[in-house]
Amino acid sequence: MNNMTRSGIIVALMAASTLALAEVKPSDAVEYRQGIYKAVKWNFGPMGDMVKGKQEFNAAEFSRRAANLAALSKMPLEGFIAGSYSGSTDALPAIEKDWETFAGIMSDFETSAATLAETAASGDMNAIRPAFMSVAKTCKSCHDKFKD
Ligand code: HEC
Repeated sequence: MNNMTRSGIIVALMAASTLALAEVKPSDAVEYRQGIYKAVKWNFGPMGDMVKGKQEFNAAEFSRRAANLAALSKMPLEGFIAGSYSGSTDALPAIEKDWETFAGIMSDFETSAATLAETAASGDMNAIRPAFMSVAKTCKSCHDKFKD
């Protein structure tokens, strides 16, 4: 790595830490995570319809949506900040009290969504179906515990 590259990286890291220090309004965090989950549903719904045979299986579309989901699965966690568990949110205060469990399920969501994206590339519904169900399980186990 040359010095120009290194100083560029240092400047970028400094900008990122400045952003992280900036005050985030709880209501903005709520809107952020709800927006991500809306995008999750937008992609997960049609995949579910294809898995259930309600919509004709299209391997290219399925793969594209699975890749979107894998990217989206990394995004909600940072929206769960202190002070964001009351008002117009369905997120339960239990999230703060049991952060380890919550973050653990989020991590299972990420891992299973990444596996689904890899499996989708095979175009083989017999492999895709169980990979899809593993992701669906993480949605349900988190909503059962942590969502109103
Ligand atoms: C680790 C926890 C967790 C996982 C995993 C998770 N969710 Fe959620 N989800 C939540 C919480 C908490 C909320 C409530 C957010 C709020 O209102 O602030 C939510 C909200 C939602 C919403 C409502 C968004 C809105 O406000 O309109 C949808 C839809 C949704 N989730 C779908 C899914 C689907 C589909 C999956 C799996 C593919 C999933 N979620 C995985 C915790 C999770």
